[in-house]
Amino acid sequence: DHVAIAIDGPAASGKSTLARQLAAKLDLIMVNSGEMYRAVTWKVLQDGIDPKDAEAVIAALVEMDIECSVAEGRSVVRLDGRRTGDELRSEAVNGSVSAVAAIPEVRNRLVEMQRGFLEFGNVIMEGRDIGTVVFPDTPFKIYLDADAGVRAGRRVAVGEVDSVEDRDREDSRRKTAPLQVAAGAAILDTSGHTIESGTEAALELLRE
Ligand code: CDP
Repeated sequence: DHVAIAIDGPAASGKSTLARQLAAKLDLIMVNSGEMYRAVTWKVLQDGIDPKDAEAVIAALVEMDIECSVAEGRSVVRLDGRRTGDELRSEAVNGSVSAVAAIPEVRNRLVEMQRGFLEFGNVIMEGRDIGTVVFPDTPFKIYLDADAGVRAGRRVAVGEVDSVEDRDREDSRRKTAPLQVAAGAAILDTSGHTIESGTEAALELLRE
């Protein structure tokens, strides 16, 4: 059977960077669960639906042609058969994704797809509820964090308009699968780490 490493944490805590490093070192499939929530959000906005109107979002979700697969060792999300890309990181998506991700029906559908990745091999999956909901039984869980200032600065550095504080607040306060430290997770603060030293620290935690 295949195993999963779960990485959770707030926005810009370094999840994608760490997942990429560990996936390369340990030969794992890298799965970005946030892209799936972003894809649903992008489609909702594209269709002119108010992301805060849960009933309308659920109605659109039923019709949505969303598909996940693996290419070059990482997850790929397709909408209506087309591969998604940079549009998922737009300001509009950043500002609406937390509202869409708070809808239980959206989560149910995506969690199901996320668990399906284990069919393809051993995975490292990053998100907000991977250790709490998607793979609660895995012994490999890391909760990443970093100072709020460091996290906001990382988004500015890559030229993204993203209010990480607002997203964190919404993601932590929602009723379904809020961002929290999973039982059994090791906490790693990346504020003072380089990519290399953070990766080493994570490997050390996973060995314990
Ligand atoms: O990479 P970044 O921290 O900016 O966020 P992301 O992983 O792309 O996730 C975007 C948004 O999707 C989050 O702010 C959450 O609202 C939602 N999300 C979630 O609810 N559960 C997950 N497992 C992953 C993302």
